[in-house]
Amino acid sequence: MTDKLKLGIAGIKPGDNTLHGFAIAKDDTCIPLDDIELVAACDVREENVRGTRERSLFRDVYTDYREMIEKADLDAVLIRLPTFLHKQATIDCLKAGLHVLCEKPPTCTYEEMLDVAKVARSSPGKYMFVRQSRFLPSVQAARRMVQEGKLGEVYCAESRWIRSRGKQILGNAWRSEKERGGGVLLDLGVHGIDQAWFAMDKPKPVEVTAATFTAFKQYATDPNTYSADDTVAGMIRFESGAVLACLFAFGMNAVGPQNPNQPDKPYATDWQVSRLFGTEGGLDIQKGELIHGPVDSVEVEPLPANGYPSGSPMVLQAREFIRAIRTDTTPLNSLDDALALMRMLSGLIQSGETKRSVRLN
Ligand SMILES: NC(=O)c1ccc[n+]([C@@H]2O[C@H](COP(=O)([O-])OP(=O)(O)OC[C@H]3O[C@@H](n4cnc5c(N)ncnc54)[C@H](O)[C@@H]3O)[C@@H](O)[C@H]2O)c1
Repeated sequence: MTDKLKLGIAGIKPGDNTLHGFAIAKDDTCIPLDDIELVAACDVREENVRGTRERSLFRDVYTDYREMIEKADLDAVLIRLPTFLHKQATIDCLKAGLHVLCEKPPTCTYEEMLDVAKVARSSPGKYMFVRQSRFLPSVQAARRMVQEGKLGEVYCAESRWIRSRGKQILGNAWRSEKERGGGVLLDLGVHGIDQAWFAMDKPKPVEVTAATFTAFKQYATDPNTYSADDTVAGMIRFESGAVLACLFAFGMNAVGPQNPNQPDKPYATDWQVSRLFGTEGGLDIQKGELIHGPVDSVEVEPLPANGYPSGSPMVLQAREFIRAIRTDTTPLNSLDDALALMRMLSGLIQSGETKRSVRLN
């Protein structure tokens, strides 16, 4: 490998002017990170790779990612293709000996993830998946407090990501098709579950239960192909006895609390909740608050920053990918974490279908 990591991007959309954190937008230009050489970009839509401003950043462009892997001189590939292509594209890159950073969800199912893991374990390429909020100072601080026992025993957590009414349903292509990785669990749920699970310091999941609904078919552009779950209510039980309760919805007849950054809007139509509850204290990660105090009153304090690097979580994530490759160590968003995450997500989907709890062995 030369000094700079030679990067290819599979799936590139005009307007992504930080290239998933591998570049920094400055004025009207986009400057790659010091360690990165932007070698090739690929998109099945010609107009996305030809004639766009992004095009000028790359040496070569392709419309077929397999051709890019074969012909371009690459060390690593960022896969930001639709979810149903993650498994095959990751395997193709790893088999070519390339390092892979793949968008979330890592795959469509746990079985697909097992196939990826098999190849990843015998490839010289590193595997990492995208989950940028792990790099937020609030999430890092929450996890450290759990590790240090500052919350006492964390016995319960809550994760929600809700969008009002049919907000995300209209014109949604593959996202509304279950078989192609559509569905709220694989889109919003993967973020919400991973954030709480990571902050809880990744306890071992042993059982999941969920109810899934397709409640907004009537708003779909093509109701005939709309098969995705758009709402899920579930619970994950951990070996320690702790539980994580979840609610995710692409659309729901609900609004969220007013966003302080948008005082002109009386309520939010897209909001997240991520909270941990311990015997000594609780955390509201989204608000960045620690809740504790003497038994008869409550104190609310900002979560301590503890010197974690701030800045774009995407850039921090890109730097972590580069660090893991350079030092030949396991990245924060590791293969084992992807396996555990996909096990929980597939279990929840199975539970929704069978209407029974699923034991995770
Ligand atoms: N981390 C996050 O916060 C975040 C946010 C949005 C999307 N995502 C994930 O990113 C992925 C892509 O989502 P999207 O909304 O950009 O999807 P999309 O349907 O817009 O596709 C992304 C790009 O891939 C291109 N593409 C499609 N098929 C291709 C092929 N066979 N070969 C080459 N290029 C192809 C499309 O033309 C498009 O430019 C999904 O897996 C999604 O879950 C993650």
